[in-house]
Amino acid sequence: MKRQYAPGAIEAADLIEGRVEPHYAKVLIRLLAAHAIAEKLTAIGYQLALEGITDADLRPTIEKNLAEERKHARLIYQILQQIGTSEAHADRSMIPLMKLPSFAAPRHFAEYRSDEVALLMASLSLDVTGLLMIGVNYRDSSYAPHQRAAEIILEEEEEHETFASGELREATDRFGADRVNAALREWIPRAVNFFGPPGSGFTFDCIRYGLKASDNGELAEMYLTMLERRVSQAGLEMPRLTATYPHSIVQP
Ligand SMILES: [Fe+2]
Ligand SMILES: [Fe+2]
Repeated sequence: MKRQYAPGAIEAADLIEGRVEPHYAKVLIRLLAAHAIAEKLTAIGYQLALEGITDADLRPTIEKNLAEERKHARLIYQILQQIGTSEAHADRSMIPLMKLPSFAAPRHFAEYRSDEVALLMASLSLDVTGLLMIGVNYRDSSYAPHQRAAEIILEEEEEHETFASGELREATDRFGADRVNAALREWIPRAVNFFGPPGSGFTFDCIRYGLKASDNGELAEMYLTMLERRVSQAGLEMPRLTATYPHSIVQP
């Protein structure tokens, strides 16, 4: 599929002054609203985790991640505001979408207080996936403000990802393989579904407009390949997933 706009080709003024087709703005606003709420729910999850964890050594990292996720959300809401969509309006538009399987991971993190294992799972499900979505898709966005925000977010998400993989390596020793394997079975389907359904009309529009570079299915594949290696290196078991979206566990 050929993309219509090059990376960074569109600025807010192009939308405001009507130099871009109206459908572009519609697709962009939906994409940004989804990105913003995902950052916001992740921040809420980190906030809750501060109450749920007992390991004091983790606090500085959680506080750092919390501050950064809040900043990521703020950055994206500012971009929306610039083109006339308020935070409240953006969040309201997401209410029906948030019930879908693609939002189960951030919703779960924001709704339940995480202990140490759940925090690791949430970080694998939200920070590692976020790193891919932002690094692969948004870094080359045709919408210049989103591209610039992605550059800032990416640097911090790389550190969140490093935290998650470090924690994963030690998880077997700290919590026991059985407990972590059970958590992986619970969380990995949610994490993979976070990329959204493959081949949707919405993603087709995003790719055509240069707002995303890859289909959700390709990103989900990349994620699973990456995670599989790390999970087995940590002496853990990668759960088997059903082939089609929304993915669930294959019962043995
Ligand atoms: Fe983030
Ligand atoms: Fe993050």
